[in-house]
Amino acid sequence: MLKGKKIILGITGSIAAYKSAFLTRLLIKAGAEVQVLMTQSATSFISPLTLATLSKKPVFTDVHNGESWNNHVDLGLWADVMLVAPLTATTLAKMANGISDNIIVATYLSARCPVFVAPAMDLDMWAHPSTTGNIDKLIAYGNHIIPVGHGELASGLVGAGRMGEPEDIVQHLEAFLSNGTTASLTKELPLKGKKAIVTAGPTYEPIDPVRFIGNRSSGKMGIAVAEALAKQGAAVQLILGPSNLSTEVANVELIRVQTAQDMYEAATNSFGQSHIAVMAAAVADYRPKTVADKKLKKGDFDLTIPLERTLDIAAALGKVKKKHQVIIGFALETNNELENAKGKLKKKNFDMIVLNSLQDKGAGFKHDTNKVTFITATEVKPFPLKTKVAVAEDIANHIAQILPS
Ligand code: CTP
Repeated sequence: MLKGKKIILGITGSIAAYKSAFLTRLLIKAGAEVQVLMTQSATSFISPLTLATLSKKPVFTDVHNGESWNNHVDLGLWADVMLVAPLTATTLAKMANGISDNIIVATYLSARCPVFVAPAMDLDMWAHPSTTGNIDKLIAYGNHIIPVGHGELASGLVGAGRMGEPEDIVQHLEAFLSNGTTASLTKELPLKGKKAIVTAGPTYEPIDPVRFIGNRSSGKMGIAVAEALAKQGAAVQLILGPSNLSTEVANVELIRVQTAQDMYEAATNSFGQSHIAVMAAAVADYRPKTVADKKLKKGDFDLTIPLERTLDIAAALGKVKKKHQVIIGFALETNNELENAKGKLKKKNFDMIVLNSLQDKGAGFKHDTNKVTFITATEVKPFPLKTKVAVAEDIANHIAQILPS
């Protein structure tokens, strides 16, 4: 598909520029003719000599070199495809606003061919409204955005913003050149503009200043769901009970709570503005009726602690749920699993309940894996053992499918 195609590869100043060497090699190997353009700052990350050698052509880093002029208009007309990879926030802003102060933007403005960009940024830069606005502008101009990856970034933070892998970028170009469609590339994230709340982790119900009633929930499943929803574009509030875990993902706002009452207040406060609620927390159903203000001393007697019911957060949200909202619940059962889970689906007005059974090896608390069954009013869908991250992605995909637009 790429054989004989003339490709302009613009490289801007990001640490991801080292990947452009692999990208150039892949394009050349696929039979394309590649003209590399670099910004001055890109030359600090990778040498033009490397790229000139791989592309078998001189690399241009400026509109002129003091003696001759590199005709960006000709370059723009020569190319079958222009690709900017990596694309920094600076060059993105210049492309969005026509600030033609380097050879890449000058050529971009002259190009009549399809233009692809592969952004590379730190997670907060990627999530910044200024970046989102500029990306929206490029989409509006008809350019194609190669989705960013998710993972560890040069800053050490973990989140969205990594440049797509060279193999993926080549695949995108091939798909475009073979069927001329880029719908999958420019398509908005399915949950963009949606707000979600996710409850996760255990709750601790104090007995006295040092003791509490709690449970073994780690919060892993709920955190994975929050991150999966954010990856699909939702703005997420993660309401997390006492857990050692955390999240660094952009678009996930972490609200830490201790008790069922705290979690209830945080969830009911935010639900009105939300489209999605995922109730992954293992909420204590009972709490001590009174909390001693001093540490309880032992005596020569058995101790009974009177307990009272906590509020059912999921049921409270289910009662006020509107047509545009969906609620997903979890059920951890040890017996009569299907029947109990179906009962909770109905009673709490969930749109789906995710059943996990403690009887399955590798499922439940503390594990990185889970074996679940999705239950809706019309369907019971069992899944094989998967990582919690993969289960979370299945849940986010299901939500994206059923959410009223
Ligand atoms: N849930 C909740 N608030 C509570 C209790 C449960 O939001 N006070 C939510 C859980 O997060 C889960 C669902 O309700 O999504 C079912 O929780 P589960 O503990 O399985 O059910 P319970 O209603 O507590 O019933 P039981 O403990 O008797 O099985």
